[in-house]
Order: sequence, then C-alpha cells, then structure tokens
Amino acid sequence: MQASALILCNALVILLILSSCTSVHSDDEVHVSIMNRLGSGKNLTLHCQSKDTNIGQQNVCDGSELGWDFAVNVWGSMLFYCDMGWEEVHQYHFDAYYFQRDFARCESQCSWLVSREGIYGLNVLE
Ligand SMILES: *[C@@H]1O[C@H](CO)[C@@H](O)[C@H](O)[C@H]1NC(C)=O
Repeated sequence: MQASALILCNALVILLILSSCTSVHSDDEVHVSIMNRLGSGKNLTLHCQSKDTNIGQQNVCDGSELGWDFAVNVWGSMLFYCDMGWEEVHQYHFDAYYFQRDFARCESQCSWLVSREGIYGLNVLE
C-alpha cells in the first residue's frame, strides 16, 4: 500500500516535470521594459539583475524607458529583480520578471509603467 502510494507520487512528480518542461519554450526570449512616466522631468534610477545577469545602475529620463531581453530557462525559475529610485526614494524593490507570476502575462513582452499614481504591470497580449 505504501509502496504503491510512493510509485503514484513519483509518477505525479515525473508528470509535473514533463508538463512544466513542455509549457516552457526554452529558447523563447522575453523583452522586459520599464517606462518612466513620472512627469515633470523626473528621473528614475533602476538597478536590475538576475542570478546571472546584472544590467547595472541606469538613469531613465522622464518619458523614456529601459528594456532588455533574456531567455526563459527550462526550470521556470527566472527572476529579474530591481531596485528603483526617484526623488527621495532610493531603493524601492520590485520583481520585474518572475516566471511563476509572469509567464502567462508576459509570454514575450513584459512592460511596466512607473507614474505618479503607481507602478503598473501592463497587459500586453499578442
Ligand atoms: C535627469 O538626468 C539627466 C541625464 O543624466 C540630467 O541631465 C538631468 O539633470 C536629470 N534631471 C533631474 C531633474 O535630476
């Protein structure tokens, strides 16, 4: 009884691994962009990185954007996190791309808009 439960459990794990692999196209590129729409000529500073890639500290002028491409890995663990600054705020932390949260919304394009009213994750549906 216990052994068959274990086999069933293993089979489920294998199925889960298989299905998560087929749902991820390993060589698919995702483009992330973060737009500064703070207005009044306000600059936005961004420092974004993943485990393997560091975009470095960037100044994004009002009305422009910072964007980059990356390949989603087969493990579905991709995470790009950023520290954002504007005016007196120096290190507002947010995740620009987290596979488990964003794979459905951001199949190939993940856009953010930073405005006076808030930070918006845009729905870009192809
Ligand atoms: C915003 O950044 C630009 C380019 O670095 C700079 O010339 C400008 O003075 C900055 N504006 C403000 C309001 O700090």
